[in-house]
Amino acid sequence: MSSLKRAGDVTITIEGTNRSATLPLLAGTLGPPAVDIRKLYQELGVFTFDPGYGETASCESKITYIDGDAGVLLYRGYPIEQLAEKSDFVEVCYLLMYGELPTAEQLAHFRRGVTYHTMVHEQLRRFFDGFRRDAHPMAVMCGVVGALAAFYHDNLDINDPRQREIAAYRLIAKVPTIAAWAYKYSLGQPFIYPRNDLSYAANFLHMLNAVPAEEYKVSPTLEKAMDLILILHADHEQNASTSTVRLAGSTGANPFACIAAGIAALWGPAHGGANEAVLKMLSDIGHPKNIPAFINEVKDKNSHTKLMGFGHRVYKNFDPRAKIMKESCHAVLKELGVTHEPLLELAMELERIALTDEYFISRKLYPNVDFYSGIILKAMGIPTSMFTVIFAVARTIGWISQWKELIEDPSQRIGRPRQVYTGPPRRDYVPIEARG
Ligand code: CMC
Repeated sequence: MSSLKRAGDVTITIEGTNRSATLPLLAGTLGPPAVDIRKLYQELGVFTFDPGYGETASCESKITYIDGDAGVLLYRGYPIEQLAEKSDFVEVCYLLMYGELPTAEQLAHFRRGVTYHTMVHEQLRRFFDGFRRDAHPMAVMCGVVGALAAFYHDNLDINDPRQREIAAYRLIAKVPTIAAWAYKYSLGQPFIYPRNDLSYAANFLHMLNAVPAEEYKVSPTLEKAMDLILILHADHEQNASTSTVRLAGSTGANPFACIAAGIAALWGPAHGGANEAVLKMLSDIGHPKNIPAFINEVKDKNSHTKLMGFGHRVYKNFDPRAKIMKESCHAVLKELGVTHEPLLELAMELERIALTDEYFISRKLYPNVDFYSGIILKAMGIPTSMFTVIFAVARTIGWISQWKELIEDPSQRIGRPRQVYTGPPRRDYVPIEARG
């Protein structure tokens, strides 16, 4: 059921002609209204042109709201700051998926359901053997999460709400197991099976760090930090990977395959791969004395160098997740007894210089979530190649909630953008002897 309200009309006239169309202006609960252009081509014979979809609302959604100018992020209306402080990741998963905070009973039931699905089919283990030892864990994630489609395809009816719900449980529960095994595989260590007596974050850390030869106790500091990282990355409205999941889902594709498509989109350095790129950038800079030269390189249009972890398509102010991440970064390092972390000091100096530089000020470029997340993950002993994998584990709930919303939306159609063609006009085939 659509909750969009008619907020007025917009009339578009093609100058120099008598052709004009009156289109509805649709308003949601928060944020700017949108011109409903669904009849534009029919009425005026024109398309809209918006590469990168920066000004286009591709769907109606009740899940996440961002006010990029004010630096606000809400999950189902709840501010990210409150959820980061008071909630935990599994409760946030429930909220994103069902739209409301659970009662104690609903939460216990949900936790049990997620826990129940943490193991993967033993046959799925064999997929790992097909990868080279040095394969990037995101490549392994794309392959193995996509392979889940082969295990749950024939009996999965996406039009049945219960089956959609079970697919969601399976994904939330199994993705950490697959992620941890991708890491273990790269180390050549035995896979560690899930432990259902541990919290979601602790179980994930256990599968990442434990070895069968000795007992591994999950540090409560690391457990808390991991839970926070998962909450902060859980959803972010129609970003590139979520839009990829929705586009794939709009064809009626298997949900596990849709999530694998989302993982592929997340991997890019402009999106989730930025956390890995930030650490590489910091270690390349090496010392605060090299920052001015690096900033000059970033400002040089011919260099193609970006200040990774800075800038955002929607936030033209501080990314609220970055603020929480920065505070948590200090707290985690303190709790871990790290008194001097050169990378953190370098990052803070880089941030200070960038925030006072006209180039970044005029373009409203602020630190995003990835600027500090890599430093926390590094302090937690997580290798750089796993950073984006952890983002993928967290974002799985966002992807599957958005996929469910899409399938349940009666106005949903196959995603199929148009284009403005600038190639050659119609021409006739030229035989090879006549080409010159
Ligand atoms: N360093 C230097 N210049 C930048 C940066 C940056 N990180 N980001 C944007 N700019 C410049 C850009 O060159 C352009 O300059 P001009 O107007 O002179 O051509 C201007 O700022 C506007 O940028 P844009 O490319 O139009 O912005 P966009 O919305 O297309 O791109 C972005 C957004 C996130 C891809 C980009 O800011 C970027 O590449 N940032 C670095 C990568 C990064 O940290 N990504 C993580 C995003 S947050 C986590 C997530 O949700 O995935």
